[in-house]
Amino acid sequence: MKAGIIGIGSYLPDKVISNYDLEKKVDTSNEWIIERTGISYRRKANDNICSSDLGAEAAKLSIKDANLEPEDIDLIISASSSPDRIFPATACIIQNKIRAKNAAAFDIQAACTGFIYALTTAAQFIVGGQYKNILVVGSEVLSKVTDWEDRNTCVLFGDGAGAVVLSKVKWGGVINSILGADGNGSELLELPAGGTKEPADFDTVKKRRHYIKMSGNEVFKFAVKVFEDCTRKVIKEADLSLNDIDLIIPHQANIRIIDAAIKRLKFPRDRVVVNLSNYGNMSSASIPVALDEAFRMGRIKKGHKIILIGFGAGLTWGANLIDWNL
Ligand code: ACO
Repeated sequence: MKAGIIGIGSYLPDKVISNYDLEKKVDTSNEWIIERTGISYRRKANDNICSSDLGAEAAKLSIKDANLEPEDIDLIISASSSPDRIFPATACIIQNKIRAKNAAAFDIQAACTGFIYALTTAAQFIVGGQYKNILVVGSEVLSKVTDWEDRNTCVLFGDGAGAVVLSKVKWGGVINSILGADGNGSELLELPAGGTKEPADFDTVKKRRHYIKMSGNEVFKFAVKVFEDCTRKVIKEADLSLNDIDLIIPHQANIRIIDAAIKRLKFPRDRVVVNLSNYGNMSSASIPVALDEAFRMGRIKKGHKIILIGFGAGLTWGANLIDWNL
């Protein structure tokens, strides 16, 4: 018995920020951003919107897609690098917003790998038999934790949310999952202030320590390496080869990361889902949004073997190999 995705949904704010808009804010250019990242546009939530708002909209769509009612959900796992608050869990806020009154709810913190960690956890709960219908949500309003004066980071991120419902399936489902972490790299990508290490005060705000900080080059090299290693490992453990894989849906951080990794893997580019040009890096939401789009476009068919790959702050990484059951 395996756990499979039985419903998917995604939700993006309407407001689009182009590279030309960013040219007016920081010393950058449309050409530099496209050449170095592949990103042309990203979405931005309105000031009154937080991660649980976008997450709740994606959640409702995924539950409808699964032909279920919110009361049928018995667990919600939410992943976000830009949660509503330190506590309570964003999953609890989403539970209330969608009226999933029978669901337990908790958050997972694995930054851009959050969706993979959450999906892997959910699959274990399904296989173990403790829960029947688990909602997994990745939602981000990164625009509120991005330093709009820092050209190194502000061109990269976007807002959005994606969600799936996981249940027991008779056929297909999640075949294999791997997760990894290296806390030694925790300072390469972080939001330094606002927790107990550097509590928010006048000084942390003045030094802009409540915004994302990233050592781009180191994270880039790490990302290319784990992308390749994760792909090989998740396939090998399932006794499959790269030729068996129909589609790879990676975290959408930078087109050069994706291109470098698939070149090392010698995997065909037309079997990799890339939508970062339109949305930038939406951290935990990137993978479920790309999955939803690929499915709606007919790129994923029943029986396809697909790989989801995440990597990000922590440092963390992970992959799910899925025999598509829908
Ligand atoms: N516009 C113009 N110039 C810029 C910009 C910009 N927006 N940003 C940086 N530069 C400049 C730098 O200042 C530097 O100038 P200098 O040589 O005068 O110092 C030059 O461009 C080159 O900078 P690099 O950092 O070497 O540029 P690089 O090609 O590495 O690209 C980038 C930077 C896009 C950040 C890249 O390193 C990257 O994508 N890193 C990985 C990001 C990632 O994968 N994150 C994943 C997880 S995110 C999460 O978990 C929340």
